[in-house]
Amino acid sequence: MLKSRKYLLMLLVGLLMSVLLIGCSGDGEEDTSGDNDTDTTEDDSEDTSSDGVNVGIVLPTRDEPRWVQDEQRFKDALADSDYTTEILFSQGSSANELQNVETLISRGIDVLIISPQDGDAAGAAARAANLEGIPVISYDRLITNTDAVDYYVTFDSLAVGEAQGQYLVDNVEGEGVPLYLYAGAASDNNAFLFFEGAWSVLQPKIADGTFVVANSSIAEELSDTQELTRDDMGRILGQITTNWDPNEAINKAQTHLTSAGPELKGDIAILAPNDGTARSIADTFAADSEVTNYVITGQDAEKASIQYIIDGKQSMTVFKDVRRLVEDAMGMAITILDGDTPETTGAYDNGSVEVPALQSEVIVVDEENVQSELIDSGYYEASEFTGLE
Ligand code: GAL
Repeated sequence: MLKSRKYLLMLLVGLLMSVLLIGCSGDGEEDTSGDNDTDTTEDDSEDTSSDGVNVGIVLPTRDEPRWVQDEQRFKDALADSDYTTEILFSQGSSANELQNVETLISRGIDVLIISPQDGDAAGAAARAANLEGIPVISYDRLITNTDAVDYYVTFDSLAVGEAQGQYLVDNVEGEGVPLYLYAGAASDNNAFLFFEGAWSVLQPKIADGTFVVANSSIAEELSDTQELTRDDMGRILGQITTNWDPNEAINKAQTHLTSAGPELKGDIAILAPNDGTARSIADTFAADSEVTNYVITGQDAEKASIQYIIDGKQSMTVFKDVRRLVEDAMGMAITILDGDTPETTGAYDNGSVEVPALQSEVIVVDEENVQSELIDSGYYEASEFTGLE
């Protein structure tokens, strides 16, 4: 199955240039998301696996800019590789996800890289690969409560939440500042880590009266509890989740603003879990004339949110350099293809096993360092934005 170390070296170099098969496997049912189109860039390099695909990659959805970023970064990183890869999107469905993995198994993959739609439900897809002896690398999000996952590459998600919480603490004045809390999908293990990190910084400031929780009775109830249990967090998320859906975020924000009295308006602080939801929440709060000023967080450094930050409509984002995550994931896959054991720097308890992991740091970006962190680093071109001094 595997090649000499020369191949590994060539491929590591090839990380800078390799060919990609991209596709979205439909859900077999009538196409709802219009995402059945498969655009395939024919790979002219030597076919190294019996059925033509060595590394299968499954991402949650094409409907969020974050994951389209990852698709592009895989594309950028894998041009001219001797190995072939194929990316499929699950379009928000665990059933699709399992079908995608079965499709990739039938195409003879040697390694599976997968970012689960739902951490627990993805256990079935991981098991399917595992039963075929195909190592499974969990990507960005952890597959939970199964021993069928071999490795995990991710960013420091606790640090994401801590950075968001700290930014709010550092950018409000006075006491009794209304604090609106929003979170990601409870089916995503990261959503708990983000919230846990934010709470670790915000809770003492809620307890000392700097902030007043404006939109969660359970968070208010637990405002003296420094360390929340998973169950506590689950109950809070039940009230404030956006399910990573910008439209659901708008509905929640509108409901919260409608039920908020004047004492919960004025200058406020908003914990938004990622950029996709931050923009819609910011627009909703900006449209309320009783809100005089807001500080709002984000995550993912999506292009649209960088423009919002430049325009003063979003306060910050937490930059997760996806180039790094792709490199870590493909580096692991290549090491496995070469019959070696990937290096890891720690482990995550997924509720069933300790999963060996590689974790990357995150960077806070606001109007002060867009240029240095995102333009000078080559992540984006200056020409992609307006108003960038
Ligand atoms: C998380 C991921 C974030 C975010 C979100 C929405 O798991 O770590 O970067 O964008 O999913 O898809």
